[in-house]
Amino acid sequence: MKLRVLSVASEAVPLVKTGGLADVVGALPDALAPHGVAMTVMVPGYPAVLKAIGKARAIHAWPSLLGEPARLLAARLGEHALLVLDAPGYFARGGGPYGDSAGHDWADNWRRFAAFGRAAADLAGGAVKGKRFDVLHAHDWQAAMAIAYTRFAPPPQAAPLPSVMTIHNMAFQGNFGPETFPALGLPDAAWSIHGVEYHGGVSFLKAGMEAASMITTVSPTYAAEIRDAQFGMGLEGLILSRGDRVRGIVNGIDTAQWNPETDPALATTFGLRKLDRRIRNKRALEAEFALEPDEGPLFIVISRLAWQKGMDVLLEAVDHLVGIGGRLAVLGSGDAALEAGFHAAAARHPGRVSVRTGYDEALSHRMQGGGDAILVPSRFEPCGLTQLYGLAYGCVPVVARTGGLADTVIDANLAALQAGVATGIQFDGVSASALCAALSRAVALYHRPEQWRAIQRNGMKADFSWNRSGKAYADLYAQLVTETP
Ligand code: ADP
Ligand code: GLC
Repeated sequence: MKLRVLSVASEAVPLVKTGGLADVVGALPDALAPHGVAMTVMVPGYPAVLKAIGKARAIHAWPSLLGEPARLLAARLGEHALLVLDAPGYFARGGGPYGDSAGHDWADNWRRFAAFGRAAADLAGGAVKGKRFDVLHAHDWQAAMAIAYTRFAPPPQAAPLPSVMTIHNMAFQGNFGPETFPALGLPDAAWSIHGVEYHGGVSFLKAGMEAASMITTVSPTYAAEIRDAQFGMGLEGLILSRGDRVRGIVNGIDTAQWNPETDPALATTFGLRKLDRRIRNKRALEAEFALEPDEGPLFIVISRLAWQKGMDVLLEAVDHLVGIGGRLAVLGSGDAALEAGFHAAAARHPGRVSVRTGYDEALSHRMQGGGDAILVPSRFEPCGLTQLYGLAYGCVPVVARTGGLADTVIDANLAALQAGVATGIQFDGVSASALCAALSRAVALYHRPEQWRAIQRNGMKADFSWNRSGKAYADLYAQLVTETP
């Protein structure tokens, strides 16, 4: 019998995406299927999602879900079941999933995602005819209340099924004021340090972490790092108290979407055996970004422009990057000051630095296929996916040694080069001087073509598919089902 898992998240590729969470949630059903898991994904019915699913059947209705009417729509995500919470009062608005088009969070996010969690908990608990689940898997704070409701709501609303709380980013916790508590519909007993209460307010992520049978995060190193205050961001104590109930399972990549041999976005497809063809993508990319073509390395960045990603540090290192013969193409959006900083750098170095702001999936593929090296100088990085795409595409990652970046890139130190296992460059401590030194190492290696090719090939040969991590999640679900009486 297949294990039935309900995976609840606020984003999923190809329906709605603001970051790596969507890639992972969208890829998990396929990743789990070979391991005997039937995964159903549940997402909110934002306008883009409702448009993508077209006409769909309602399989359940709530006259009032924390104050707004809602329906559950049944649709498909590829081969798999998809459930969409259609609640116009919460989700029928312009802007993004979490805020308006100016980037301000919606003031009622607490109610929107509490309602989403409440609906998922009802579903997990068997309230919807014809739907039964063995495990509830919630991703990030937006889905965390699903687990909290299964544990803290009074019977019969509580559901005794095992649950997994996956933390994709500890920096986003869903913390709200105490005035929100009465509207959540939880008993007073849930207002406690082992419930939803957190420093006098409500924390959705903390509640999910307290209630979950198991907590996972998206790399082993990040699972260890969040035991410390610097990375745990206030929740390190809770992580420590959950002991061996915290695991790190590294993300994979969707190798159907990210394969340089078949990628329709590329000017020229290429592979391990046809690596020479890559240069055509580089020339196309230079033209697209109006960069001077030359023999030096072309560095790329595909990122949210945010403090987490160390983009301010990169701005400090841009003059050095250009000074040692590098060029830089940036695709990103986010912080207005950082965007302005990159535009200023491009103005200072015409033909050497070029910036595209906004979100462009196809361009991100062309950059991985044509750039020589991708820069990921993150201050913290739970997993990171762009370095994995870079590895698969022969775009050598230059990364800070933290979180998933530490786990997925093998630094080209002397020993690794001699052993023939290096896949990129790592540096310690996110500072301009450390990044400049890493850039200098990258440029030096680039000018030793045999070594550079070996590094590219090692990355392209490495297996970052979901095979191993899919099995790890399947084993985890099986363990939880076995332990649950
Ligand atoms: P995070 O989720 O913290 O932003 P990840 O590296 O896990 O970081 O995932 C980011 C995802 O978003 C990747 O799929 C990356 O290619 C994509 N991405 C980020 N910024 C852009 C952009 N401006 N245009 C297109 N894709 C982007
Ligand atoms: C978060 C993290 C990123 C991770 C992604 C998917 O957005 O910032 O490191 O890769 O989730 O798990």
